[in-house]
Amino acid sequence: MKEKLTQIQDMTLEKLASISNLKELEELRVAILGKKGELTQILKGMGGLSKEERPIVGQLANEVRNAIESKIDSIKNELLAKEEEEQLKNEKIDVTIPARRKNLGSRHPMTKVIDEIKSIFIGMGYEVAEGPEVETAYYNFEALNIPKNHPARDEQDTFYVDGLLDFVLRTQTSPVQVRVMEKKDMPIKIIAPGRVYRSDEVDATHSPVFHQLEGLVIDKNITMGDLKGALSVFAKELFGEDTKVRFRPHHFPFTEPSAEMDASCFACGGKGCRVCKNSGWIEVLGCGMVHPKVLEMAGIDPKEYSGFAFGMGLERVTMQKYAITDLRLLFENDVKFLEQF
Ligand code: DAH
Repeated sequence: MKEKLTQIQDMTLEKLASISNLKELEELRVAILGKKGELTQILKGMGGLSKEERPIVGQLANEVRNAIESKIDSIKNELLAKEEEEQLKNEKIDVTIPARRKNLGSRHPMTKVIDEIKSIFIGMGYEVAEGPEVETAYYNFEALNIPKNHPARDEQDTFYVDGLLDFVLRTQTSPVQVRVMEKKDMPIKIIAPGRVYRSDEVDATHSPVFHQLEGLVIDKNITMGDLKGALSVFAKELFGEDTKVRFRPHHFPFTEPSAEMDASCFACGGKGCRVCKNSGWIEVLGCGMVHPKVLEMAGIDPKEYSGFAFGMGLERVTMQKYAITDLRLLFENDVKFLEQF
């Protein structure tokens, strides 16, 4: 039996020396030390030994078992270490591989211009006001002194909601003026940027949806001089310090007198170029002194208060500022186009 034990020990240690992976190691362990393993079988047969032999063989059996177990343990640790090393090698990061590029977007040119104009007026003490895009015909027309027979109210110019004549998609941001005036929180000094709608076909200069920015100032003793001062400061801030402005008489139903303001061309300084179509001037906005009737309808006494208003098309300002020749580019969202700003 002793011989059998040393034989098992020698044979097992020999086999262990050539083992190369954890699976083989486990198989061998089970074959020798497992419940039905060789060594276990022998130990089971110890009952047939004499009293004298039993402790001697028992001790030897334990030594053999310990020798095999400790060898198995050390081989196991070696194999685990090797495996880990292998894994680390496979996971090695190649720092020379080029990084994946992230495409960062940029602000839309319209957004840039709107933000810039807003900040110019906020800097002059104006507050930003808002109104609904589905507006009543009263605010969009009547309260702005645009009577029932006015061509602006024609179905070819205006989207009526559900064919009702009482609700429209606002055709201008001017109704916000009326909504603000009705609150009579004097003095009034607001701008109102937003979307407006007209029944126009899309082409290089028209779109059924576009943006306007409205301005309104109401206080005691406001004059045309205040209008000119405020708007020329605005033009200089937007187009550059050397910008000059001129006012041409015009007609709007809600202002009297009314004017259109041009700014000297920022691209050529007034000499004439592609941007200003050789005129030296670019048309920027409509403006005027708020019509006494409009004040009255909003519940403001025109003998006590006066004010000025202005309105501009934001697509047009954006196109002028960036020399964009087709309005559709602003809506198509072609990244190649937008990337330039
Ligand atoms: N609402 C006008 C338009 O759509 C623009 C405008 C002109 C607004 C003169 C005003 C103004 O407030 O005073 O053409």
